[in-house]
Amino acid sequence: MLSRDIRRSFIDFYAGRGHAEVASSPLVPRDDPTLLFVNAGMVQFKNYFLGVEQPDSPRAVTSQKCLRVSGKHNDLENVGPSPRHHTFFEMLGNFSFGDYFKEEAIASAWELVTGPWGLRPDHLFATVFEDDDEAEDLWLRISGLPPGRVLRCGEKDNFWAMGETGPCGPCSEIFVDTAPELPEVGFDEGSDSGRYLEIWNLVFMQFERHEDGRSEPLPNPSIDTGAGLERVAAVLQGVDSNYDTDLFGTILTAVAGTAGSEYGRDPEADVSMRVVADHLRAVGFLLADGVLPSNEGRGYVLRRLLRRASRHGMKLGFEEPFLASLLPSLEETFAGHYPELEKAREPSSATVTAEETRFLETVAVGAGKVQQAIEEARAAGGSVLGGEAVFRLYDTFGLPIETVREIAEEEQFGIDEEGFETALAEQRERSRAKSLSGSAMATRPRFGADLAATRFTGYRDLELDARVVDLRTAEGESVVELNGAGLAVFDQTPFYAESGGQVGDVGLLTGNGDEARVLDTFKD
Ligand code: SER
Repeated sequence: MLSRDIRRSFIDFYAGRGHAEVASSPLVPRDDPTLLFVNAGMVQFKNYFLGVEQPDSPRAVTSQKCLRVSGKHNDLENVGPSPRHHTFFEMLGNFSFGDYFKEEAIASAWELVTGPWGLRPDHLFATVFEDDDEAEDLWLRISGLPPGRVLRCGEKDNFWAMGETGPCGPCSEIFVDTAPELPEVGFDEGSDSGRYLEIWNLVFMQFERHEDGRSEPLPNPSIDTGAGLERVAAVLQGVDSNYDTDLFGTILTAVAGTAGSEYGRDPEADVSMRVVADHLRAVGFLLADGVLPSNEGRGYVLRRLLRRASRHGMKLGFEEPFLASLLPSLEETFAGHYPELEKAREPSSATVTAEETRFLETVAVGAGKVQQAIEEARAAGGSVLGGEAVFRLYDTFGLPIETVREIAEEEQFGIDEEGFETALAEQRERSRAKSLSGSAMATRPRFGADLAATRFTGYRDLELDARVVDLRTAEGESVVELNGAGLAVFDQTPFYAESGGQVGDVGLLTGNGDEARVLDTFKD
């Protein structure tokens, strides 16, 4: 089955069982400050699970775009070397909002994997949370799996939580033996080695976790399931690596073709090609969902992914920007299901090229500076670049630590990563203190009624020439010139002011050769 057929078969199977087909939400969660990116299919339904909002239909099915780049669910360094780690991935999921619970979730999943997906029951395992007798009984009864193939696991594997806070619950996973021709091994050994592969997680959503660690029962026990499309495709297409499925084939062929090489010839180049392919997917979808490269938050994640792809491109021999030329292979891969890629084609391509060009320039300038720092350290008898020096290269020349590390490695030099982290943390603390002084304008001054209302143009513009009509210090005193944090009122603005649950925009003011950061925007 091609990936598009797998996606469709999942959706049709659940649509046939009364589930509303819901489109993937964008990668940026709507109104949810607890998450940087959507990391599971249930995120767009969070309020239904919590009972805060009522769904139109008590059952839904989706193929959700997800991104996991750091923290709880992923580690970026694994992406590339590993056959199964991704940043961007698609999660197939069926959901019940207080409608059906464990029994129907298990029965329908079993029917789909052994029916339309054609997996042999004797190649499958199920796991349940250690004290979930009910789930174990259901598996034994519904699937007919022998007791040795329904296993109990602890909290680490079989209790799912969206994040530090939010809905959560015990879960049950379906595993497939990817090498059934070999003699069986213990479940732990098989799953650690990747031979027994988890393809589907059924979460029995029962609790809400709060900031203080307390868990409370949800108003209605619900179901949230997630099957990684890339893994399912690898299993159904009989290949060992997700990168050998059609979800990556077209992209990898484009990467290799552009590099004048082939995928699968040189293990080291293959890692770089996988990084490029994976990150291209993430970058393409992030841009299509409106994220732009920047130095913080979501934009910084995008920038890091783009730069990591670019660095691996250099390893493959690219000296010019190349990522934008691969975007058509992404569009082709997802044609028909995610029209946003096509719609964003031109701006995405322009942004990728501009960002990559700037990065290549940074590296060209920065590489010389790293050499210089290494030589100085060597002359002083050292073999490690100090944390402060690495931080200066990062802060002044914009060189990512990975680039510094690579150049240092070529020179058989170490770098003090801990010292770098400390210097970075100190700088973050300094800028946090600074921005606090900006928003610490607890006593927002009142403005005279003679000031005309600011004209808002943000639905049309992201940039605009505007005139300052009033200027105040942090203490609220009217001034004609401002140094440091303060408050400016404009005749017109593209900055959205805090309102209706949306935070105020941040951005940049430039003029008369000066530059100021907008830390917050609000209406009087
Ligand atoms: N939320 C669960 C997961 O991400 C199931 O969808 O695995």
